[in-house]
Amino acid sequence: MKILVIGGGGREHALVWKLGQSSGVEKIWCAPGNGGVAEDAECVPVDAGDVAGLVAVAEKRQPDLTVVGPELPLVNGLVDAFRERKWAVVGPEKKAAQLEGSKIFAKEFLKRHGIPTAELYGAHDSAGGAYAALCAVDWPVVIKADGLCAGKGVLVAPNPDAATDFIERVMEKHELGEGGKRVMLEEALEGEELSFILLTDGERYAPLAPTRDHKRVFDNNEGPNTGGMGAFSTDELLPAELQRTIETTIVEPTMKGLAADGIRYRGFLYIGLMLTKSGPKVLEFNCRLGDPETQAILARVDFNLAEVLAGAAAGKLDPRKLKWKAGASVCVVLASGGYPGKFETGKEIQGLPEAAQVADVKVLHAGTKRAGDKILTSGGRVLGVTASGKDLKEALDRAYRAVGKVQFGGMHYRRDIGKYPLQSSAAGD
Ligand code: AMP
Ligand code: GLY
Repeated sequence: MKILVIGGGGREHALVWKLGQSSGVEKIWCAPGNGGVAEDAECVPVDAGDVAGLVAVAEKRQPDLTVVGPELPLVNGLVDAFRERKWAVVGPEKKAAQLEGSKIFAKEFLKRHGIPTAELYGAHDSAGGAYAALCAVDWPVVIKADGLCAGKGVLVAPNPDAATDFIERVMEKHELGEGGKRVMLEEALEGEELSFILLTDGERYAPLAPTRDHKRVFDNNEGPNTGGMGAFSTDELLPAELQRTIETTIVEPTMKGLAADGIRYRGFLYIGLMLTKSGPKVLEFNCRLGDPETQAILARVDFNLAEVLAGAAAGKLDPRKLKWKAGASVCVVLASGGYPGKFETGKEIQGLPEAAQVADVKVLHAGTKRAGDKILTSGGRVLGVTASGKDLKEALDRAYRAVGKVQFGGMHYRRDIGKYPLQSSAAGD
């Protein structure tokens, strides 16, 4: 099998790594890839959001399967373009990708199909309308920019001043660009957060190994939100009874709702949940795998990933084939100085060969590039040091031992990934 992976972050490096271990895979391309992916696949320099460019890549190379990592190509209609040509691809079509691309679309979907979610106060396409609506909400109120905003589009506003300031920045100063043209106001939910990620072929689905992300930049969940500073996976995160509740009250109605709306969803669906006193409720949908959750999830793969993904793309997923290694896995993200704010790039990374020597460790690259025989930093999240072990402690020991061998100017990371395995925090994890 020849496979094309789209994207250039740590999630895509993890996909390339595990697809490369699947028997029957003879070639992997990655567009655009990064400095580390280049060791495991052939990188093709085309941007992930460039649908026409990617169609040309696939036309020329004729992969048997394409796996899409990030949301942008999905929202831009890459899967529609591939399916029109009868090319096998893992990912939802443009209409279904609106579940992530428009929070208002997602909320309407949830309401239409009776799936538990936060109460909607209203959707607004003018700042004046949004300010006026603040008189009739309970506090705190959650304000969400409708479109893709790279993780910056949500505020849990404690009071009218904070809410007014956010609406002004989003709708009058256009700080989030097009994604902020409309906003939605909704009820603030309380509880622990949990992400439930599944693979579906539109009829059948298979939950992936449970994971938890660590969104805040500093230890103890302090500092601003990031794309994710680390993740871990262990089955203890999701007791069987909770899994059953989530499947019956959320996943099954979502699958039925997609079918009722005429959407044949073939790909990964990431459901962000709040576990409230009155049961799990949906906070958001992402139409893709999480990053860095994928790095931890795929470290536990104990099946032929390429074969399973090809099955999902063909509408013939066999959920029994997904088997997960017992124990635990961890991904610790090493970030550039200043991230998630302004950061410097072009720093040489030292110690990668030494880190790779640690047992059961794979250093996955995100923001890196090659320059001759050197690897330089080229993004905010630079590396995801990923390890597995018989339990969380062993996986953590291995990951942090490998982290200790890597260095670049300004490097920072969290030292408390997986520290509170079974207890989420209200601060954004
Ligand atoms: P979202 O992109 O919709 O998941 O929102 C990002 C983060 O904002 C979530 O991970 C939650 O921490 C928080 N959030 C979103 N919606 C709500 C809500 N209705 N109540 C409380 N917190 C929320
Ligand atoms: N780590 C969160 C996300 O991928 O959306």
